[in-house]
Amino acid sequence: MPRILPPTDHSITLAVDALRRGEIVAVPTETVYGLAADAMSEPAVRRVFAMKGRPANNPLIVHVLGVPQARELAAAWDERCDQLASTYWPGALTLVVPKAPSVPDVVTAGHATVALRAPAHPVMRELLAAFGGPLAAPSANRSAHVSPTTAAHVAAEFPGADDMIILDGGPCAIGIESTVLDMTTSPPRVLRPGGVTVEQLRETLGDVEFSLAREQARSPGTSPRHYAPRTPSELLDHDELQRRAAGAGERFAAICIAPTYVRGAEPVIVLPRDPAKYAAMLYDALRRADEAGVERILIERPVDRTGLWSAIQDRLLRATAAR
Ligand code: TXA
Ligand code: MG
Repeated sequence: MPRILPPTDHSITLAVDALRRGEIVAVPTETVYGLAADAMSEPAVRRVFAMKGRPANNPLIVHVLGVPQARELAAAWDERCDQLASTYWPGALTLVVPKAPSVPDVVTAGHATVALRAPAHPVMRELLAAFGGPLAAPSANRSAHVSPTTAAHVAAEFPGADDMIILDGGPCAIGIESTVLDMTTSPPRVLRPGGVTVEQLRETLGDVEFSLAREQARSPGTSPRHYAPRTPSELLDHDELQRRAAGAGERFAAICIAPTYVRGAEPVIVLPRDPAKYAAMLYDALRRADEAGVERILIERPVDRTGLWSAIQDRLLRATAAR
């Protein structure tokens, strides 16, 4: 079993020691939990890929404390990057920029670019400061499964990871992953919508390219089926959902939006109408529905596609995409 540790100074020291030995440490961030490794150590990064069952062609995000560290890992860092970093870092924005030669190719999956993010979670920042170098960290789930938003989710995901440290930073405040923004195209292009909204980015930069449907093939890791529960899941408009529920001849769970209620579903998980609160609870809801032992999960499709809802819509589409 992994070891869930409270975020004390002693735990941080143990985590730094483990990272220096090339081991993996599970870390809290404000978006989702990550599996962190020394970004400059090729064997350590390989261990992360192996542990997740992640295809070697899907690059990792490198976590830094801020711009000075980011600049060291980037071959080019322009004014727009500075502007974005000063507005959204530390936070849920990942910038894809040309990589410096010092970044191991295994991290970037052989790409000429590197994805950089300065996370806001105080425990992760303490760890980055104590470690003194960049940490490569994908979400702490098996490849294509639902991302974890609590320490217990991580432990459930990797029960066989004996003695792996999980730093417990509490439930993730944002609850869905960072926005991945490709800075090497003109205009910059959102590869994955996330915690920082496209509207916010457009306010800062002017033109930003984004399409909820088209972006799916572009970011190497954003295969259509991703963030997915193991139980067959469907995304349905409110009325369709109620019709399906009324005629269902199987045991099913429902994830809906207040004030919707779905008769016959067990469990019925009702999420808040506020998108920030919805996002913070979504992955836990998917996990609970998945663990309920039902034959199907029916999910109410949110009506709104703006702001944080577009990232939520993206995750719901992937969670319910055909296998
Ligand atoms: O919020 C987050 O971003 C979390 C926390 C732990 O920081 N991390 C996360 O990592 O979601 P991961 O590995 O699950 O997703 C990283 C995404 C993938 O879609 C990957 O393809 C993309 O970022 N990515 C990484 N490097 C890239 C690159 N050089 N070019 C394009 N996309 C890249
Ligand atoms: Mg992931």
